[in-house]
Amino acid sequence: MVYYQRLGTVPPKRHTQFRKPDGEFYYEQMQGEEGFAWNQSFLYHQNPPTVITGAESVDQAGPPSVANEPLLPRHLRTHELAPATDAVLGRHRLMGNSDLTISYVHATESSGLYRNAVGDELVYVEAGGAVVESSFGELEVRAGDYVVIPTSTTHQWRLTSESLRLLIVESSGGGHIRPPKRFMSPLGQFLDGSPYNERDVRGPSRLIETRTGPADVLVRTRTGVTRYSYAFHPFDVVGWDGYNYPYALNIADYMPSTGALHLPPPTYITFEAPGFVICSFVPRMFDYHPEAVKVPYAHANVDSDEVLFYTGGDFMSRAGSGIDQGSISLHPAGYIHGPQAGSLEKSLSAERTEETAVMIDTFRPLFLGEAAAGIEDADYPWSWAHGWGQDVTGAR
Ligand SMILES: [Fe+2]
Repeated sequence: MVYYQRLGTVPPKRHTQFRKPDGEFYYEQMQGEEGFAWNQSFLYHQNPPTVITGAESVDQAGPPSVANEPLLPRHLRTHELAPATDAVLGRHRLMGNSDLTISYVHATESSGLYRNAVGDELVYVEAGGAVVESSFGELEVRAGDYVVIPTSTTHQWRLTSESLRLLIVESSGGGHIRPPKRFMSPLGQFLDGSPYNERDVRGPSRLIETRTGPADVLVRTRTGVTRYSYAFHPFDVVGWDGYNYPYALNIADYMPSTGALHLPPPTYITFEAPGFVICSFVPRMFDYHPEAVKVPYAHANVDSDEVLFYTGGDFMSRAGSGIDQGSISLHPAGYIHGPQAGSLEKSLSAERTEETAVMIDTFRPLFLGEAAAGIEDADYPWSWAHGWGQDVTGAR
């Protein structure tokens, strides 16, 4: 959802006869949220979208299930993950709980057809370019894009660069990934003062030329993945309209607020979903009070686990921690975290930050996936102790 869009040809009224030039019917399909009680789109297919001719289970890694014990801050280096096949089957599942799964993939091939029947997906493009092809048409995406793909959108990732680096959030807590309510009027227009608005949000720009013939589609469910064989290709749509479609927002189009003194992370909220929020840290002026401390104070995330994906800039407050491009840090509830030694003093004369980072705050504890163990920086929990000259006994 963001606002009403229409591509191609739709009949003047819903649920009326809509015929091809040869007199045959087009086939109407509704894709909606929350049953029939929330935003919807109506698509018009050349062939019925319902005809399955086969179904089989597909083996996939289970959800992240390793408890974060002993409770530690974590640092994962995503660029140490091996390149994988594609943006769907090659996902390394790093962290998750019942509300979401966080994965990373360095894809080197285009994906097959796929839809997530559990929840919306939010994909952050760290590097590379692609076209997200769906029944709604072509959505070109590039580095820095957040791509929101609503539940049950049949789509595929077609690479337009040699490879693609993606951070993927699969929502599974019910409900949907949406712009925060406080940005919106009751009827769904972005209010003035929102950090982004309709002009920044890109939907599919054109329909896909009709594809014919049978097609396989992978469907993610709560318990696994099923491969359906369809008699007719799902990309045979002649028109659609509505509020439910995949869209992109580039993080550079997110306009940050700044203040005289430090503003807390919720200032930078970008999307919200049941059980978590997404915030964007982008290049911006530092606080301008003459006595301002420009790095964050130490803080305890009493009610949330805090995940940061570092995707550009200098990460001033983390100097000496090993954090670099492609790093993910996890600061769990129960651990008090803050800047590294020396960064407070260094910040005093700085006027702006060039950092870009994506934050995912979850409201329930995160479990770790098997893929996380292989890319973990085991020294990270002790980086504060090293900075303040302390001996470390390590995890026991
Ligand atoms: Fe934090």
